[in-house]
Amino acid sequence: MPERFALFATASRGTEDLLAQELEGLGARKVRQDRGGVRFSANLREALRVCLWTRIAMRVLYPLAEAEAKGAEGLYRAAAAVPWEEHLDTRSTFSVEATLRGAEHTHSGFVALKVKDAIADRLRDKLGARPDVDTRHPKVRVVAHLAQTRLALSLDLCGEPLHRRGYRVRQTEAPLKETLAAAILAAAGYQGEEPLADPMCGSGTLCIEAGLIATRRAPSLSRPLSVEKWPHLGEIARRHLSELREEARQAIRAAPFPICGFDRSPEALEAARHNARAAKLEKEISLEAGDATILSPPPGPPGLIATNPPYGARLGGEGQKGMKAFYFKLGESLSRWEGWRMAILSGNPAFESAFHARPKERRRLWNGPIECRLLLYPSRGGASRLGAP
Ligand SMILES: C[S@@+](CC[C@H](N)C(=O)[O-])C[C@H]1O[C@@H](n2cnc3c(N)ncnc32)[C@H](O)[C@@H]1O
Repeated sequence: MPERFALFATASRGTEDLLAQELEGLGARKVRQDRGGVRFSANLREALRVCLWTRIAMRVLYPLAEAEAKGAEGLYRAAAAVPWEEHLDTRSTFSVEATLRGAEHTHSGFVALKVKDAIADRLRDKLGARPDVDTRHPKVRVVAHLAQTRLALSLDLCGEPLHRRGYRVRQTEAPLKETLAAAILAAAGYQGEEPLADPMCGSGTLCIEAGLIATRRAPSLSRPLSVEKWPHLGEIARRHLSELREEARQAIRAAPFPICGFDRSPEALEAARHNARAAKLEKEISLEAGDATILSPPPGPPGLIATNPPYGARLGGEGQKGMKAFYFKLGESLSRWEGWRMAILSGNPAFESAFHARPKERRRLWNGPIECRLLLYPSRGGASRLGAP
């Protein structure tokens, strides 16, 4: 095993620069943005710190090989050339997940199957027996990414994708991915040292991610990491992790400022309450019924409004005209929040002009397949309502 690892952390499209900044802050070296993520270098301890603390990365991968892989035979040959015996033994169960981009194969399951066969055959040859496949709780997770005919094979250090923090026990319509919510807060410069409000909080993702930041909680503190079960690195990884987890527990504090979520839907609020409780943030986050178009700011000093208003298609039947009127009223209402700055993620192209305020920054982000704009507005005083003197 190398002293330092060349690693790749994956990110939602449009958040790669935010992830790069985060990784630098976590001590990663040689940080370089790439398509769909960020490359960096770290020793084992630094890599494990990244796994515990990253809020924006979806996976942390240890790339093993990249090769041309044409047709089914090419896939098999490329995967069989990797020295898997350095990473697995006959008792380590494994799984293979595949993702495709512009590949000749249309079924990721087929690519995963070819890679799995190659791994099993190579290990049978080299070790005299092959490890079992376990798709649910494997000891080693192999990630295969086929872009056109280029096959990249990696091990996943973390296991379950990192956006699955474990607190989303109730769903609502169109929740944000946890990692995307964290990226929005990072883009807005939220560091947990000011009040935060989400006037349309849905299942509470932005409030909960803000709560994790404000309480200085490592988002993956309570999850086991896949690398702990690797045959050749597991023991040393467990030793580092027990210290890193203790350090992370010591860092936890009470949130210094309130975090408030509002929604007009009782079901959404109920979901947000369950999720906040599952995240152990029920004391830090207040959740109340409210209509964002007539809402007053919570008492106390101003801070950051971070929100993700409905895009339209989901506000059944109201149509685009209705949405524009809604965004206009929302703009009127939030412009009365004296001193608050705003980070608004919208997937509706009509939002910005209807909202009728001038953002100081726009960023293109993807909420799953939906292209969105993250609009950052300065606090009122620095902000100007369009048409206002
Ligand atoms: C796109 S969802 C927000 C999803 C949320 N970010 C999450 O991660 O779950 C939009 C939310 O706005 C709420 N909403 C729509 N109109 C509203 C209004 N006038 N006042 C307050 N909430 C509203 C909806 O009930 C819905 O929960």
